Amino acid sequence: MKFSRWALIITLVNVLLYVEKCSASLNLYLRTQEVQRLLGVPAEMYYIRDDLISLHALNFTIQLTPKINDLYFTWENTGGTKIPYSLEINTSNSAVIPKTDVNISTTGSVPSVTQTFMVAVACSGLVEEEVQISINLNLTFPNDNTNTLKFSRRKTCLDENIKNYVEINTLPQFTNPSSIFFIAICCAVILISILVIFITINFLRYKKIRSTESGASEPTNTTTTTFLAALPRNSVNASSYGSFRRMPSYSLIDDRSKDLQERITELTIQRFRVRLSSIILEGTFGRVYQGSYINEEEKEETVIIKTVADHASQIQISLLLQEGMAMYSLNHKNILSILRVSIEDHTTPYLLYPFDNNKNLKIFLQKCKVSSEGVHHTLTTQEVVHMALQIIKAMQYLHKKHLLHKDLAARNCVVDEKLNVQVTDNALSRDLFPSDYHCLGDNENRPVKWLALESLVHKSFACASDIWSFGVLLWELTTLAQQPYIEIDPFEMAAYLKDGYRLAQPINCPDELFAVMAYCWAMSAEERPTFTQLHVCLQEFYTQLTKYV
Ligand SMILES: *[C@@H]1O[C@H](CO)[C@@H](O)[C@H](O)[C@H]1NC(C)=O
Ligand SMILES: *[C@@H]1O[C@H](CO)[C@@H](O)[C@H](O)[C@H]1NC(C)=O
Ligand SMILES: *[C@@H]1O[C@H](CO)[C@@H](O)[C@H](O)[C@H]1NC(C)=O
Ligand SMILES: *[C@@H]1O[C@H](CO)[C@@H](O)[C@H](O)[C@H]1NC(C)=O
Repeated sequence: MKFSRWALIITLVNVLLYVEKCSASLNLYLRTQEVQRLLGVPAEMYYIRDDLISLHALNFTIQLTPKINDLYFTWENTGGTKIPYSLEINTSNSAVIPKTDVNISTTGSVPSVTQTFMVAVACSGLVEEEVQISINLNLTFPNDNTNTLKFSRRKTCLDENIKNYVEINTLPQFTNPSSIFFIAICCAVILISILVIFITINFLRYKKIRSTESGASEPTNTTTTTFLAALPRNSVNASSYGSFRRMPSYSLIDDRSKDLQERITELTIQRFRVRLSSIILEGTFGRVYQGSYINEEEKEETVIIKTVADHASQIQISLLLQEGMAMYSLNHKNILSILRVSIEDHTTPYLLYPFDNNKNLKIFLQKCKVSSEGVHHTLTTQEVVHMALQIIKAMQYLHKKHLLHKDLAARNCVVDEKLNVQVTDNALSRDLFPSDYHCLGDNENRPVKWLALESLVHKSFACASDIWSFGVLLWELTTLAQQPYIEIDPFEMAAYLKDGYRLAQPINCPDELFAVMAYCWAMSAEERPTFTQLHVCLQEFYTQLTKYV
């Protein structure tokens, strides 16, 4: 069950032939303003065009920001034959989105004149969670064929009551005796848990070695292809580009609830200010350049530019913008957030990031393997812990801002010569690091081997799932970015983890550090440490290391 390139191409060809042809003439689409509002790209998005259903568009799950409460669909049936429909809206958690509403009847016939209807999906504002929304539409075509269309949306809801959210990034202060006592107890609990997990893991490793010896797990060759890279272009109408206007800047009051369009507008600069100089990374469609831009003070700044090739599809462009905007307006020395955007008509967007001689961490680690003299070089434990601590600080900040990373990995970090690390977004990573992502039957290309068990199985994400990925990242740091679980088929991962298997202790990795990783991979999310606990633990370890050096 692996996606070989050919199987993928054949699937795509089948999909391209679309389905169902009948005598009516039905269109169902999102209008330009709607696509612009949701995805930041001025284009129409057709789900059905002249009776042809685009599975490709239907499969695309649109991520909604907390502020988007209404969705608009436009449809018309110009064929003259009646097309009865029935409509139902379902959300994965009715406590978070208590009421969904639509301003047309839930059963009826598709109108013969163009009609826009609205689906309301407001959050309750009481719970913070990501909710899956599915809008199911049954259409009965004249040949009595019923087609069920499922539109998927994912929405992040915020808890509006949280005003004084706990500061998770302040370290405990050793001020009074009672807090020292409290901290002592915490440390003891952490230490005991680490010990228990350490013993368990060692036992499991022993078990695993035994089962490998008895030939239980056959090494498999993992050839992977990015799904996105192979998506057909122009499945969404790309001819109807609107014009992109520069709008007045917004103030920075409630940044997180701004919709994508507002975020993009705020960062937009004119294209003539940007200059590409050399290409740093290149994927099937993704491109990362080094370049420069003339800022508002007419000074030249060096930047990294993420963009896509001209043949990239509308969806690839939308994803680039959506993912590139994830770290919008964050300000922390260990986070590399987007600086500017440049969108011009009929060209692909440029996403600009500050460049401070920083390189991709995964590539940096892999190059560490062979130093200039051609000898094997490993980072010292002290250097690894120093880097890990910076990533922890970035993650504490993200979580404090109520943001989950969901794709924390070496490929989504950058590092400079002084080993200053910054966490960044995952825009283009699927394309630039195709072997780190896998599709498990659905069309979602996910970082399977970095995902916590609950994210892998139930697609649920929380702070604890970022902790899991951090454990894998720590493993990457100590192995100089080897591929995790190289011998395990992505389809087997869930079962493998459920059976209690985990990554093995890397050669040269001190027990203390491995214990921390193992602790991050606890089966149940509650048993995993928080970034605050990890910070205390690793800081302590770092102090010890520097003492002896
Ligand atoms: C859409 O998803 C279905 C099921 O998840 C899959 O079989 C199909 O290949 C996907 N098609 C496209 C174009 O992504
Ligand atoms: C659509 O049809 C399927 C089966 O044909 C049925 O299970 C489902 O309830 C229908 N949905 C609506 C919204 O009527
Ligand atoms: C609604 O969605 C939930 C989870 O996504 C699912 O368990 C349930 O069966 C769905 N209900 C209907 C009526 O489709
Ligand atoms: C539904 O509501 C939207 C927004 O208020 C409006 O633009 C649209 O025309 C309405 N559609 C119908 C069928 O009433």
